[in-house]
Amino acid sequence: MEDAPAQRAARLLRTAHRMVVFTGAGMSAESGVPTFRDDLTGLWARYDAAQLATPQAFQADPDLVWGWYEWRRTRVSRAVPNPGHLAVTTMAARIPDTTVVTQNVDDLHERAGTPAPIHLHGSLFTPRCTAVDGHPAPLPPDTEAPPEGSRIPPPRCATCGHPVRPGVVWFGEPLPEAEFAAAVDAAATCDLLLAVGTSGVVHPAAEIPRVAARSGATVIQVNPQPTPLDPVATVTLRGTAAQTLHGLVSAAWPH
Ligand code: APR
Repeated sequence: MEDAPAQRAARLLRTAHRMVVFTGAGMSAESGVPTFRDDLTGLWARYDAAQLATPQAFQADPDLVWGWYEWRRTRVSRAVPNPGHLAVTTMAARIPDTTVVTQNVDDLHERAGTPAPIHLHGSLFTPRCTAVDGHPAPLPPDTEAPPEGSRIPPPRCATCGHPVRPGVVWFGEPLPEAEFAAAVDAAATCDLLLAVGTSGVVHPAAEIPRVAARSGATVIQVNPQPTPLDPVATVTLRGTAAQTLHGLVSAAWPH
């Protein structure tokens, strides 16, 4: 950690009292979970992630969409948290007033020891019924990963017989109200927001770092690529989540 932005970020982290860590798909990329900007590969290559992740796609072809989410869920179950997830847990231990807000539908923050991140876009592990009240449905047994490209009919809800759907927020759907309100509140009252691995283009989640900046917080961004959050960030560290966050923790708290 020789360069000035890294040192500045370490100092900002060391002196923070109230922090929000805001994460996107790049956070889990080094755990082998593809981001939404990556092209789908293999037998999924002819589909577009942004088109599969819609209520319209599920309505038109539930077996295709459920199969895709089951493939993603089993893949995530076999992934392990990377040093970036572990660094976030260490930061939260050093700065107890830390709120982790994630757009990710994986459970890698939890498995890295961050017990209750706010999931703005739901979770692969909380399927729910398509009935109006969206009551929770049990997870299918975690058997072998389905082959890539498998169409799998969604299970029927044991209570009312409707098809079960993934417990994620699809494009065009509202975010869970309580989670979004808690994230906005944390962003509006923090003194440091650390944005990691997010393209900053999917709204309303992308408002979170902007709310923090407008409220006077310092914003540190970690991303190997330029993003629309560059002008919002006080310091941008151009690197990957695993490497950069691990280095940031070591520089902020060397002992
Ligand atoms: N470390 C850090 N950042 C990375 C890494 C890495 N190893 N690899 C890629 N990135 C960055 C990319 O440069 C990009 O800016 O992660 C970002 C991933 O962008 P998106 O795939 O758009 O992910 P995200 O910002 O989380 O998208 C928001 O959109 O598709 C929906 O609901 C989905 O939650 C998702 C939301």
